[in-house]
Amino acid sequence: MRARVFPDYEAMSEAAAALVVLRLREKPSTVFMLPTGTTPLGMYRRLVEMYRAGQVSFAGATFFNLDEYLGLVPDHPASYHVYMKEHFYGLIDADPARTFVPDGSAPDPAAECERYEAAMREAGGIEVCVLGIGRNGHIGFNEPGASFLSRTRVVRLSESTRNVNAADFEENRAPQRALTVGMATIFESREVLLLASGTNKARTVAASVEGEISESVPASMLKGHPNAELFLDEDAASDLGSGVAG
Ligand code: GLP
Repeated sequence: MRARVFPDYEAMSEAAAALVVLRLREKPSTVFMLPTGTTPLGMYRRLVEMYRAGQVSFAGATFFNLDEYLGLVPDHPASYHVYMKEHFYGLIDADPARTFVPDGSAPDPAAECERYEAAMREAGGIEVCVLGIGRNGHIGFNEPGASFLSRTRVVRLSESTRNVNAADFEENRAPQRALTVGMATIFESREVLLLASGTNKARTVAASVEGEISESVPASMLKGHPNAELFLDEDAASDLGSGVAG
């Protein structure tokens, strides 16, 4: 797993957007997996700008999102459906028929997870998976301890994750559970790009890059991936030893 350190958040976001556009130019029908959170916002902003400038089209691509809160209807303001619509899918020429976010309001969540996993399989699997990272090392909503063999499923969120995300919800109460694409599904992506920004990610980034591969640090799984890269800003890289390429 290679780590590239950029001077700041904007430079990191720019590089992430450039990689997405490069993959689209190589193959307009690329199948992407995409994250939510604050980290990828700069990348989405840049991609939307490039789309508006006529430099890129997303019309041939397929998009899958990583996760969604259980129990939220797709138009709930804190849902990842709304997030993606407002920050990306609603602002570009993505084909709604090839744009997927797990349905947190599905009557049978386990069946929804199976359906989602099958949709990724039918699309030929994920080619480019972009990830953020939680402060505790989670990827998607795969919290510490998640099996590297796991598939898309319903998970219980840790207290720390619920606290970090609480501000998005009324009375500061984040849902207790979520649907997330599993670790094995993420691992099978042909290419993985993990983005991390800010000092509050520095410790978990260092543990992921320099520690043992362990289910207690989900992002450490990527050390065993043949084609995974980390894009970091200097703050997120600040706990790394000197062995990291710039
Ligand atoms: C949420 C999402 C993750 C995301 C993480 C980090 O829990 N489910 O996919 O990577 O938050 O978010 P942020 O980028 O806001 O720090």
